[in-house]
Amino acid sequence: MEYLKHRGESLPFIGIGTYRLGDDAHKAAAETRAFKSAIDDFGMTLIDTAELYGYGNSERFIGTVLKDYEREKLFIVDKILPENAKENRYEACCRQSLARLGVNVIDLYLLHWDSSVDLQNMVNQMEALVEKGLIRHWGVSNFDIHDMKALFRCKNGEKCFCNQILYNLRSRGAEYDLIPWCNAHDVAVMAYSPIGHNAAMRKELIDHPLVVETARKEQKTPDSLLLSFVIQSRNIITIFKTADVEHLKHNMQNVFAPISAEDMQALSQQFKAPSCAVPLETI
Ligand SMILES: NC(=O)c1ccc[n+]([C@@H]2O[C@H](COP(=O)([O-])OP(=O)(O)OC[C@H]3O[C@@H](n4cnc5c(N)ncnc54)[C@H](OP(=O)(O)O)[C@@H]3O)[C@@H](O)[C@H]2O)c1
Repeated sequence: MEYLKHRGESLPFIGIGTYRLGDDAHKAAAETRAFKSAIDDFGMTLIDTAELYGYGNSERFIGTVLKDYEREKLFIVDKILPENAKENRYEACCRQSLARLGVNVIDLYLLHWDSSVDLQNMVNQMEALVEKGLIRHWGVSNFDIHDMKALFRCKNGEKCFCNQILYNLRSRGAEYDLIPWCNAHDVAVMAYSPIGHNAAMRKELIDHPLVVETARKEQKTPDSLLLSFVIQSRNIITIFKTADVEHLKHNMQNVFAPISAEDMQALSQQFKAPSCAVPLETI
């Protein structure tokens, strides 16, 4: 594993996404195998979840598996729903998430989306959770550049640790302004859905002849090429979800070898970076 040093933390460049994990009891054994292999065999010690995922199922699943691990070796990211933030339920929701996870502290707590939440109140509430020792850092998700600027106008807004956003070879809008802005303001960027979120979106990418050919040249699989693309600059970390040990191995094949400049250029000709500001895509 390689790590991003950010505000005193060492964050693995590739962590575990958990959307839909824990939803189906019949899949629990396979999901557990994949989850443990991600940590044990690949060092994917950053785990991303949300109270939204299966309305607590993902957190409960993680809580069950994490009993076998030393808590300090893991970095747990969780998210509060905007509707709960709007009702000022920060502490209650955080405590419920902690109980489902079976841990005492969340490493990074994000507002899942929606910048129409009262941002100054969000900062105050998040800072209060830090003071109480319930979370270690806070951040946001799906915030576009104007949302980030509004957040930074709030008192203590600059304490935002991270912005988790949609970013992959097909969705590169954030490269134009948001990612440079976050880099300049010391806000970590965490890319979600790096390999396409669902079967249709993934297929569109991994079956593309250029992706297939470039993966072959770079001795990667199409999926590991997509992950390599996201972390190529080494200033973005990412999370992907799999419930399958074989998918995990396939995705991690040669993933940290940088893509050659020539192949990056060819990919960029086909999957263009934006030449003007575009709204942040979300799922
Ligand atoms: N902040 C937000 O608003 C937000 C939004 C979306 C996601 N997220 C987070 O980001 C994480 C990752 O994003 P994501 O889950 O949307 O998308 P993703 O990780 O890009 O893709 C996951 C999908 O790809 C499949 N897959 C992965 N490797 C595969 C392989 N080698 N062969 C076949 N299928 C494969 C998975 O199915 P299998 O399980 O069968 O492998 C799953 O259906 C989420 O789990 C969640 O934690 C955050």
